[in-house]
Amino acid sequence: MKISYYGHSCFGVELKGINLLFDPFISDNPLIPGTGVNADKVAADYILVSHGHSDHIADCVSIAKRTGAKVVCSWEISVWLNNQGIENTHPMNTGGKWMFDFGKVKCVVALHSSSLPDGSYGGNPLGFIIESEEGSFYYAGDTALTLDMKLIGDYRKVDFAFLPVGDNFTMGVDNAIIAAGFVKCSDIIGMHFDTFGFIKIDQEEAVKKFAQAGKKLRLMKIGETIEK
Ligand code: NI
Ligand code: MN
Repeated sequence: MKISYYGHSCFGVELKGINLLFDPFISDNPLIPGTGVNADKVAADYILVSHGHSDHIADCVSIAKRTGAKVVCSWEISVWLNNQGIENTHPMNTGGKWMFDFGKVKCVVALHSSSLPDGSYGGNPLGFIIESEEGSFYYAGDTALTLDMKLIGDYRKVDFAFLPVGDNFTMGVDNAIIAAGFVKCSDIIGMHFDTFGFIKIDQEEAVKKFAQAGKKLRLMKIGETIEK
């Protein structure tokens, strides 16, 4: 499995040669210039959108148009995308699972809100659990710490997890450490930090706090790719 970081909560995950793209927000990300990341170049066979806020969907229509990728998202977001000419969507909702060619997607609770850039209702915000032959992981989307995360730890053991750590709009570092405990996963990739003033974090301190709790937090550099 190959993981590439495109800033904010946007990651590319290559599974069995199939490219998943999570929460595309690249063009308007103020941290992108100079990183070599370009919304017109990122690969996508599937785009998974956790919720409708612009910092998770802004580049979805253009990337879906360019690549023909199938967009996996809430029913309400899929209707919105259909209305913008994106026909290749797979609508889901909280609690549902579906077997795709790369593996299984299970939609789980995210405690957040979800409106689309034009103000329309985006349905439930979602987290995703991906299970594949190459491993499994949890992509939390934007969420507060919630007891529902214990269900993941009890029933869907994952190898690693993407958790928001920026605070203000989502959980911050301290709650993300508790979330990692609920999920029973000690290998965490942080997201939703530093992009805007509201979510600036002390990266060194965040990594240290996780280490003190016996867990590993990785804060990837934008444009960086790692193997899992
Ligand atoms: Ni959001
Ligand atoms: Mn967000």
